[in-house]
Amino acid sequence: MIRKKKNLCAAAWLLAAAVLVSGGAVGGAVCAAKEQQTEEEVEDVRLKDAVSKELGCYVGAAVTGQEINNRRVWEIITTHFNAVTLGNELKPDALFNYSNAVCPGTEEAELNGETITVPKINFYKAENMLDKILQWNKKNPDDALKVRGHVLVWHSQTPEWFFHEDYDKQKPYVDRETMNKRLEWYIRTVLTHFTGEDSEYKDLFYGWDVVNEAVSDSTGTYRSDNENPNEPLSNDTHGNNSSWWHVYQSNEFILNAFVYANKYAPADLELYYNDYNECSGQKMAGILELLRAVKATEGARIDAMGMQGHYNMDSPNYSEIDMAIRMYAQVVGNVQMTELDMKASEDYDGSPESKEKEFEEQAKRYGAIYWALKSADKEEGVNITSLTFWGTADHLSWLQSRSDVGGGNTTGLPECPLLFDEHYEKKPAFYAFAGGNK
Ligand code: GLA
Repeated sequence: MIRKKKNLCAAAWLLAAAVLVSGGAVGGAVCAAKEQQTEEEVEDVRLKDAVSKELGCYVGAAVTGQEINNRRVWEIITTHFNAVTLGNELKPDALFNYSNAVCPGTEEAELNGETITVPKINFYKAENMLDKILQWNKKNPDDALKVRGHVLVWHSQTPEWFFHEDYDKQKPYVDRETMNKRLEWYIRTVLTHFTGEDSEYKDLFYGWDVVNEAVSDSTGTYRSDNENPNEPLSNDTHGNNSSWWHVYQSNEFILNAFVYANKYAPADLELYYNDYNECSGQKMAGILELLRAVKATEGARIDAMGMQGHYNMDSPNYSEIDMAIRMYAQVVGNVQMTELDMKASEDYDGSPESKEKEFEEQAKRYGAIYWALKSADKEEGVNITSLTFWGTADHLSWLQSRSDVGGGNTTGLPECPLLFDEHYEKKPAFYAFAGGNK
């Protein structure tokens, strides 16, 4: 567990004050710090060292099964990060072997003294990645990587057949009682496999997203089965509508998920709720309602709110981010930024000129976000416990392509959302977190 440090050094505070007074002129303020560092020190700085000094938290990046075998990505991850989130491989669709249209076969399982029929789970995609990480950790204990488990309960990337009788999407939906058994079995199976006493992976994980994106973008309460009336609920996987909600017609599955996760997770595995658009008023109200409901549920445990942080260049603004962190901290204490990235400005076209301008502006924007995290973390009762970017190098980001389960690129325009460019080189945004200014 990474130990929290509650004091920023005086120089950092002065720097920060200058940033705020100058209305976010982070680039200039950072230049002042650069004078105290030699060029070499700036060049050699590792992101995890710099951020750990300020926030004392995990510094992570998402990585997919393909990316982890990319030598340059692996180099970036093992140099600059001390944690990863598997981009897809621990999601329900991946664990059901991407057998999205039909159930990949069933078997019997025992649950609370009863025998139930369950779909076959296949762990190998995640295990391939975790094995590589374990090997690295064995050889490099000082630079070991931890993993954030992502995600147990989500309306998206969960096959529709999981909610139907006999795991057949042509048949009716199951009732709540049946779904509860499936929910408990699924959470038990995944958590026991990866974090149970006998699991070789048990020391890898620091926490797990128990529920992802269960709040509506527009209604100020839970995501329903009709969040987007134009999207059929019968789709194999979902972008917007929730079949969880369809079965329960209430937040019961969310509360139960946190009860079951608490029941089967080791006591030191943290449990999270995670969501996007987390700084916008309506949505924040819904998320706060969810967090309070989980906190009030007997047998449930929640250790932090995960703010995904899929942001634009102009939104959310500094005070919205600052406010969201503090509001969530009031309910759960610990707050994390779990999927940070940045959509490019509308006029960004990927040309060298536009790149230079965008990269500089983006560094300022990232600097302001970082400052919001650092200043909130200084407050009593607010702990930022992890800062995770959704990817490493720009060209590999999910924002470069359209996703059929929600989000992604809708304009076809180039994006540059991350800290490393398409040549795997550090961008100005890197130095907004690592200090110095290149
Ligand atoms: C969401 C999910 C992530 C990932 C990103 C974008 O926010 O939580 O797992 O799918 O979108 O790729």
